[in-house]
Order: sequence, then structure tokens, then C-alpha cells
Amino acid sequence: MRSLYLFLLSAFCSAQKIPRLKFTLKDAPVLSFENGEKSTVLFHDAGSEQLYVGGRGALRILTYKESEVNQTQVPLWADEKAEKNCRNKPGAVQAECDNYIRVIQRLNSSSIIVCGTNAGSPKCWFLSNDTTLQQDKRGQALAISGESLAPASPSQPAAAIAVEGSLYAALSRDRSTIQRSYGPRKLLRTEDKWVAKAEFVTAALVPGKESHLDEIYFFYNEVNETAGLDEEPVKARLGRVCKVDEGGKSLLVDFWTTFLQARLVCGSPTHPQRFNQLHDAVVLGEGRRGQGTLYGIFASAWGTTAVCAYSMDKVTHAFKTSRLKGYTNVLPAHRPGTCVPYSSPSAPSKAVLSIIKDHPEIETVIYPEGQRPLYVLQTNDTYTKVVADRVLDASNTSRTVLYLGTDKGKIHKVLETGGQTIIIAELSPFRRDAPISGMALDAFTGHLYVATEFEVTRLPLADCGQYRETCWKCVLAKDPYCGWDPDGKKCSAISRESNDTASNFLQSLDPEAEDVCEGAAEQVAQEALKKVRVDPTSYIYLPCPLRSHHAIYTWVKDGSVQYPCAMDGHSCTLRFGENAPMGQGLFKCTATEDGYLEEITAYKLTLNAACVPQLSVTVAAGALFLVVTILLL
Ligand SMILES: *[C@@H]1O[C@H](CO)[C@@H](O)[C@H](O)[C@H]1NC(C)=O
Ligand SMILES: *[C@@H]1O[C@H](CO)[C@@H](O)[C@H](O)[C@H]1NC(C)=O
Ligand SMILES: *[C@@H]1O[C@H](CO)[C@@H](O)[C@H](O)[C@H]1NC(C)=O
Ligand SMILES: *[C@@H]1O[C@H](CO)[C@@H](O)[C@H](O)[C@H]1NC(C)=O
Ligand SMILES: *[C@@H]1O[C@H](CO)[C@@H](O)[C@H](O)[C@H]1NC(C)=O
Ligand SMILES: *[C@@H]1O[C@H](CO)[C@@H](O)[C@H](O)[C@H]1NC(C)=O
Ligand SMILES: *[C@@H]1O[C@H](CO)[C@@H](O)[C@H](O)[C@H]1NC(C)=O
Repeated sequence: MRSLYLFLLSAFCSAQKIPRLKFTLKDAPVLSFENGEKSTVLFHDAGSEQLYVGGRGALRILTYKESEVNQTQVPLWADEKAEKNCRNKPGAVQAECDNYIRVIQRLNSSSIIVCGTNAGSPKCWFLSNDTTLQQDKRGQALAISGESLAPASPSQPAAAIAVEGSLYAALSRDRSTIQRSYGPRKLLRTEDKWVAKAEFVTAALVPGKESHLDEIYFFYNEVNETAGLDEEPVKARLGRVCKVDEGGKSLLVDFWTTFLQARLVCGSPTHPQRFNQLHDAVVLGEGRRGQGTLYGIFASAWGTTAVCAYSMDKVTHAFKTSRLKGYTNVLPAHRPGTCVPYSSPSAPSKAVLSIIKDHPEIETVIYPEGQRPLYVLQTNDTYTKVVADRVLDASNTSRTVLYLGTDKGKIHKVLETGGQTIIIAELSPFRRDAPISGMALDAFTGHLYVATEFEVTRLPLADCGQYRETCWKCVLAKDPYCGWDPDGKKCSAISRESNDTASNFLQSLDPEAEDVCEGAAEQVAQEALKKVRVDPTSYIYLPCPLRSHHAIYTWVKDGSVQYPCAMDGHSCTLRFGENAPMGQGLFKCTATEDGYLEEITAYKLTLNAACVPQLSVTVAAGALFLVVTILLL
């Protein structure tokens, strides 16, 4: 089984599915939570400087200014009575008897709804003018029951989204339901038998060509606890409803009349290996021009993570054309699930509603673009969260960049172009290695907000200073936000201040690298030659620090003899021994990548004639790396 798995894994991935660069971000404005928040839900309005962080017993409102951050806390305690009931319940998990904020969504320009678990009996509050709790006539914070809006515990999976003042919530309590449970439109839900035991992951608004065609999507895992050994216990699914759904007139009066669901597969129809468990998903939209792309992160039964991309046009097409599972007759011309306003003469008839009532699933299985994952991660990390951005590169071509949070508190920045991916960098902004629990991307201000249960920070999307001082280092980074500015002679964010400046920036994002830097492939000595005098019987390591993890590193003596090196994640280290006899001469370590050659380090080794007894000598070479000579007695 294991070998089959490894074979399939290698068949799936093209090379280099590890991060090219690794950065520890020391300047990021990190805010720590004293005790950990257990659940952290983030909310951010594009263009604003504010981040709302839902935690335990409080809502935090963070305000950013450059690398500074200020915090306001709005305390939201659990009701005394609810807390007491919770604590007295047999088998109660005491830590869950608190108010964990699980939903923060903007209803309209002046109101944000905030819902918490309230020790097992969920409750919601409203923030007016973005900062103050709305009060009732007696001056108390106005609250409503959140039974159908938020989960009852911090560990229960749930998803919520507000659209035009209405809140859509997907909850798994005794039953799994998808509902519209607050707002001006009629409140509706799924029938009990429609959705099996589901773990909801997220929700998204998918705009149609016109407003009345807008759809709301939910992403979830269907869990079958009684599945046999040869069956899949977890299946990823997506379900959708129309925004304009107002329920049926005689049938399905309080239920969705447009709910349809489908199976979502991250894998190929012909390969048995599947990544069944959906961890997170994001729809990168195109406004009303097209329906964009869905990106999902999935885990296999072995814990390996894969990223899959789906065309939302194909998804919506499947919902419009597929047969319905278990329904063998010809479907009526007004297909079940079509978005039509309630008052429209083409509103679904009772006959149409009775079809959807019994057959709310389409037969077509949704496979990813290219019928395979975009990539399978080849490190021990697992992805927990994903957000995406669309960015115009130097030649004004639209590129997609994914930001994937790992279970160890890192972020992978990934360029996706035509089904090809490259992990540009792994970013480490945090001090503690906890799973990324929330991410929000602001394309207007160019920031990524990231949180774990212990820390939260904001990072710039364009961080071009990381690619340093040479044209080819900048170009090899393949970061669509950055290009080499030949006038300023530095790696800078692509600027669109005037119509023609962007195209001046040098970039080379496609797999076939061109020599855009014009002869920049010359050798650049990064450090001065280090002269080292050693004893012939000593044991010597020559380190060569790695920067790009996609480059090929080689040690060469006197420009001709190649020496093997031991890779350890930080260095390609030359160890003299049987295969690499020590000798006097010039040892150079070079890195080759995409046709560019860089000289990383060079040592001129001279051997002592006499054997002078010495215990241990350390020769410093550079600030971080040492040449260690140990006398063999
Ligand atoms: C934080 O608060 C201080 C004092 O009130 C103020 O001077 C500073 O500008 C604030 N910073 C931000 C980012 O709002
Ligand atoms: C915004 O939403 C709140 C809560 O639903 C409602 O009370 C208020 O009237 C709405 N305001 C506007 C301007 O629509
Ligand atoms: C919100 O701001 C408006 C206009 O500035 C003001 O009239 C209103 O009283 C404020 N509401 C609250 C709850 O502070
Ligand atoms: C779960 O698996 C069992 C055994 O194969 C099957 O009988 C049952 O219908 C499945 N349940 C669901 C909800 O798919
Ligand atoms: C993954 O973890 C295993 C065991 O913890 C370790 O032996 C292996 O080297 C790790 N692989 C990578 C690529 O880090
Ligand atoms: C760049 O592309 C955008 C969107 O495709 C377009 O609106 C804009 O006019 C283009 N700019 C230039 C300088 O071609
Ligand atoms: C960009 O070009 C358009 C049309 O060619 C022109 O109207 C506009 O003023 C230019 N913008 C800048 C900032 O130069």
C-alpha cells in the first residue's frame, strides 16, 4: 500500500514542491494573546485598516498603521445562567463553558453581527459604527439568540456568510443544516434528509451575470461513521442555493427550493489516490464577468496535503446540466435549482419542487482542472487555510497568488500560472508554531492578515526587499508583485503610477526563463575568498549556506574536480573523507538555477606541513557559518 502511494505521489507532482526561499519576518507587527484563544475568527473589510478578531470572551478590534498596531477589546462574556448550566451538564468540557466568538460578518455599512457560543447557548450582538455594541432602550447590549446562527462550542465546525444584510449559516448540531437564519429575506433551511452528517468548512458568494443569479456556496465534508473498510469515510462536497430563493408556495414553504449539492474530488478519475478531507476553500471571483476559480486544500488519509483548483464556470455548468441522482425521468425545461425571483412567472411549479425535494444531489462529480491536483506538498506540513489574490504583473498579465497557512504557523506564497505552480517562499512571522487558524487578504491595501490561536499579524503582499540587491535574484524569485527596476537598480513592487512604468520592470514568471537581466548570469562573489590554513589530519567541514531550495549546489576544487556535499536543509556541506580527499587548493561552492550561476562561497585551503598538536581550532568564516577543525588524536 505504502509503495503504491509513493508511486502515485510521484506521478502526481512535478518537481520542486517545496518552498524556494524561507524567510523569518522580524519586522511584522505581531500581537500575542496571553492565554491562547482556542478559536480565532477574523473579519476584515477590504480597504480598511481594521481587523476584527474573535476570541474567548472578547472581540478584539485591531487598528494598523504601518508597522504599528493598537488594540481595543469589547468584552463579551457568557451569560451566568448559560455558563452554570453548561458546567453542570454531565460530561461537560469545562473550558467550552465560555463565550467563544465564532461569527463576525458585516450586515450593512453601519452594522456588524458578532455571534459567540455563549457556553452552549449561542448568542449574537451587533456592532454599530464598527466599534460600539448596539444597545437596547435600557442601555444594555442588544443581543439575540444565536441558536440558528452560530455553533454551540468552539470545536464544532460551522460556516457563515452575510449577503445583503442576511446571514447564511451552516451548522452541525444534532443535524446538519444550511440556513438563512437572520435578515430581511425569508428564513429558510435544508430538509433534514438533504445533508448527511457534515463538517462545514466555509461559505462563499458567487456572483452571477445579474444580481438575481447570485448563488451562495457551502463547502463541507460528509462524514460516514458506518462506512466499510473499503469505502471512503469522508467525502468533500459543495452545496449551493440561490440568493433570491424565498421558499415554496405550497411545497417546501420554509425550505430552500434551489438547494443542490455535488461531490467534490481532489484527484483524478483514473488514479485511485484521493485527497478526501477538505480543510479550507476560497473562490477567487471575477465579479460578474465570470465565475472565477475555486481553490481547495485537501488531506489524504495519510495526512498528505494537496491543492486543487476548479473552474467555477464548470461547477455552475454542472449544476445547470447534470442529471439528478436517483431521478431517471427527463427533467423539466425549468430545471430544479434555477435562480428565479419568487414573483417571476417562471417560479418553480409544485412538480419541479417535488423533484428537488427528493433528489437534491447532482450526478456529475466535480473534478479539478487538469483532472489532478495543482500540487501535492512534499514536506511534513499540512495546510490549514487558503486565501488568493489576483495580481497584474509587469506585462499587465493577470496572475494568481495563493497564500496557504500551515499547521506549524508558516505561510506558503504560491504563484499559479496555467496549472503550473511554484512555492515562491515560506514565511515565518510568528514565535510559536501553532496552526494558522485565520487569514484575510486585502487586495486594495496589499496586506495579508494572519492569525494562530496565540498570535496575529499583518504582512505586505509585495515584500520585494527580501529578494535583495541583484537583478537576477529579483527575477529568479518569480514573485509577480516584484520586478527589477533598472533605473532605481533595486527589486521593487510593480508600480502603476503612470501607464508605462510597469512595463519597465524586469520579470520572468514563466517556466522557460529568459535572460531578462542581460548578461547578469556572470558570477557574483557574495563573500570574499576565505583563506584557511589547516592541519592535514584534522577533520574539516566546509559549509555552503542554502538560499534557494530550488537551486543545484556544487563544490568544485580548482575549477575542475567536483566534490559531493551533504545537504541538511541549511547547507550543502563538503566533508573531507574517503570520497573527498583533502588537498590544498581553491574550493568553490556554486548554485545553479534556471540558467543562472551564483558563486556562494570560496575557501583557499592550505595545509600545515608539520603536525602541531592542537585541541580544537575554530576558524570563523562569515558571521553564521564556521569551519571547524578538530584534531584527531
Ligand atoms: C495607537 O495609539 C496611540 C496612543 O493613543 C497613538 O498615538 C497611535 O497613533 C495609535 N496607533 C495606531 C496604529 O492607531
Ligand atoms: C443594518 O443592519 C441592522 C441589523 O440588521 C439593522 O438594524 C439596520 O437597520 C441596518 N441599517 C441599514 C442602514 O440598513
Ligand atoms: C453612529 O454614527 C452616527 C453618525 O455619526 C450617529 O448618529 C449614531 O448615533 C452612531 N451610533 C452609535 C450607536 O454610536
Ligand atoms: C455509510 O456507509 C454505509 C455502509 O456502506 C452505507 O450503508 C450508508 O448508506 C452510508 N451513509 C451515507 C450517509 O452515505
Ligand atoms: C518528516 O517527518 C519524519 C518523522 O517525523 C522525518 O523522519 C522526516 O525527515 C520528515 N521529512 C521532512 C521532509 O521534513
Ligand atoms: C492592464 O490590464 C487591465 C485589466 O486587464 C486593464 O484594465 C488596463 O487597461 C491594462 N493596462 C495597460 C496599461 O494595458
Ligand atoms: C494613461 O493613458 C490613458 C490613455 O492612454 C490616459 O488617458 C491617462 O491619462 C494615462 N494615465 C497616466 C497616469 O499617465
